[in-house]
Amino acid sequence: MQNSEFLKNIELVSTADGSKTIFNPQVGENYHSKHGALQESQHVFVNSGLKHYHQQTQKNEISILEIGFGTGLNFLLSAEYAASTGLKLSYTGIEAYPLPQNILNEIGYNSFINSESLFDQFMSNYNSCFEKSTQIIEQVNLKIESFTLLSYTGKEKFDIIYFDAFAKLHQAEMWSEESIKHACKFLKDKGIFVTYSVTGDLKRQLKNLGFEVERPQGAAGKREMMRATLPYVL
Ligand SMILES: C[S@@+](CC[C@H](N)C(=O)[O-])C[C@H]1O[C@@H](n2cnc3c(N)ncnc32)[C@H](O)[C@@H]1O
Repeated sequence: MQNSEFLKNIELVSTADGSKTIFNPQVGENYHSKHGALQESQHVFVNSGLKHYHQQTQKNEISILEIGFGTGLNFLLSAEYAASTGLKLSYTGIEAYPLPQNILNEIGYNSFINSESLFDQFMSNYNSCFEKSTQIIEQVNLKIESFTLLSYTGKEKFDIIYFDAFAKLHQAEMWSEESIKHACKFLKDKGIFVTYSVTGDLKRQLKNLGFEVERPQGAAGKREMMRATLPYVL
């Protein structure tokens, strides 16, 4: 599908914590939880993903691959975490249907990001991130890969995968065995895979790939989320 067709008539909608998200009528689904875009992103990806991994490993350089970059909210909150802890962060987002910059401005995430320069630098460098890995703030680099998950064939492996696809009910192919296996190829030894969704199928697929699966408490509106650790290289 063309970008313009996929993004046709998208609308900004409010979520329960006062942050906005996008409703995509082609998919029939929001980009984030209606219980709060900000709290979901902070809880699932930053606190239970990046912060957890950082505290466990004590690494001072971490790389993240996000599948479904969308508005960049997960990136912004992760970059903020990196800035506040002195962590060096190398972030790559895969996004099949990149959003135009005016939507990123209108959604208003700048008011939830403590560092004004982080948001400004993200906006002014957004276009160049599609061409090359670009420094956004001192210790944070961002590259956005404009590919579908299955057509992405990068060589790099990452410490953490943020899997932020639309729910299985709306985009089942993103949760197929083929897609999950393909995504996990980009994970380093002892890397972690985090997502907001817990299904029996996903748990089985990850276990079959050799992951150790945990189900920490979910973000508001969900009992559990999924965090899986890879004990060895696939
Ligand atoms: C649930 S939203 C992600 C929200 C995003 N992480 C954010 O914070 O805004 C799912 C994202 O996956 C993207 N997407 C849909 N199909 C895709 C595919 N086949 N490969 C990669 N990305 C895809 C959508 O365009 C959308 O941005």
